[in-house]
Amino acid sequence: RPVSLKPLKKAVLPVAGLGTRFLPATKTMAKEMLPIVDKPLIQYAVEEARAAGIEQFCFVTGRGKTMLVEHFDVAFELERTLAERGKEKELAALRADAPAPGSIMSVRQQVPMGLGHAIWCARAFIADDPFAILLPDDLMQCEVSCTAQLAEAYRETGGNVVAIEEVPRDRVNRYGVLDVAEDHGRLVSVKGLVEKPPIEKAPSNLTIIGRYVLMPEVISHLARMEKGAGGEVQLTDGMAKLIGSQPFHGLRYQGRRFDCGDKAGFLEAQVAFALARPDLAPAMRDILQRYG
Ligand code: G1P
Repeated sequence: RPVSLKPLKKAVLPVAGLGTRFLPATKTMAKEMLPIVDKPLIQYAVEEARAAGIEQFCFVTGRGKTMLVEHFDVAFELERTLAERGKEKELAALRADAPAPGSIMSVRQQVPMGLGHAIWCARAFIADDPFAILLPDDLMQCEVSCTAQLAEAYRETGGNVVAIEEVPRDRVNRYGVLDVAEDHGRLVSVKGLVEKPPIEKAPSNLTIIGRYVLMPEVISHLARMEKGAGGEVQLTDGMAKLIGSQPFHGLRYQGRRFDCGDKAGFLEAQVAFALARPDLAPAMRDILQRYG
């Protein structure tokens, strides 16, 4: 275990995307505000990161996305009304959710040039520190926060770690894919990374999901603004340039992922999260039976 490892306290959440796949719901509302049961996607991501000891957040936003920052502010009128009506439980829940004052900041991406460009936009926030990235579209259902699992792997390996999962061969072209150096089971050391390769060229079927812990040096590679898959500045390409000079591992995390950027994935998440809630599970089971 490396001795002088910097603690992981920062997270970047790219949230500038337009959410075209969920129109018209996302016409005036940020897609990250879509709820799974009763909580918006963005809040799941923030809570997962806080459970990993993250204390500072940077949202990379764009036009029409300010409500995501607002969501984490104190809603004074609402709190007062709840207090007046004696809704103590709801009030306490709102207050427990509130992150520490000053812990959330945002930067604007301004132009949609890709995920790598979005992360580069947070460079002043990242400075010289290791940082987590959470893509809120990927919703995690894990006993131990997925970001906490990555943080643990970072402390073990002293370098970059991405959460990975195996997908059927015919779906590898939707993801960042690992070129495996050594597969140790839970941890996989990486010798290369490819963004959305054609199926026949994919080096494996181990794919990156939207959870990362990266070293700040990735920023200097992203700064070159080299365009990759889809003509965008890809995070995967920037990360690939770290390999060789820094440890780089994939982590087979424990838990499940729901792709909430996809309609079927979003609906499945509703079911899974409702079934995990004691207050809703019986009703959800009953519903499923009736439609089964
Ligand atoms: C992004 C990344 C990709 C990763 C995926 C996980 O792709 O570029 O490497 O596998 O997130 O969700 P996107 O889903 O934005 O196309």
